[in-house]
Amino acid sequence: MILVVNGPNINLLEKRDRDLYGGISAGEIKNELEARAAEDNFDIEWKQSNSEGMLVDFLQKNRHKAQGIIINPAAYSHTSIALLDCFKMLDIPIIEVHLSNPAARGNEREFLTAAAADGVIMGFGAESYLLAYQELKRIIRSGGE
Ligand code: DQA
Repeated sequence: MILVVNGPNINLLEKRDRDLYGGISAGEIKNELEARAAEDNFDIEWKQSNSEGMLVDFLQKNRHKAQGIIINPAAYSHTSIALLDCFKMLDIPIIEVHLSNPAARGNEREFLTAAAADGVIMGFGAESYLLAYQELKRIIRSGGE
């Protein structure tokens, strides 16, 4: 089972800046991922929360039943030591994703959580999630390498 975890304001993704996020909804991304995962016999557990503590709780609670994590911490990517510490404690592969490329926005946001992810995919819109899934599948099937 793969956890797909989303931080604040991803629940209203379709309402956010179209130039950055493409007008797609979280539900559409979820459906696409589930369809892709079903072909490979993987289950997806989708989670979105606007609360930092809820995200930490969810990751802690599900850490033993998941084979890997795709996570878009959204704004918490740039602020959350709690999520960073949680990532460090998890012993399953974690891929951080961003729809946009925040590094190119010139606003000097730091990337805190990414430091403890196995890799980061950003800037490909909803496709970032599918690329992350593809790589996570490869890692899981190869036994975690
Ligand atoms: C985001 C990028 C973050 O900088 C921003 O705060 C978000 C979305 C993305 O997916 O591009 O909420 O994580």
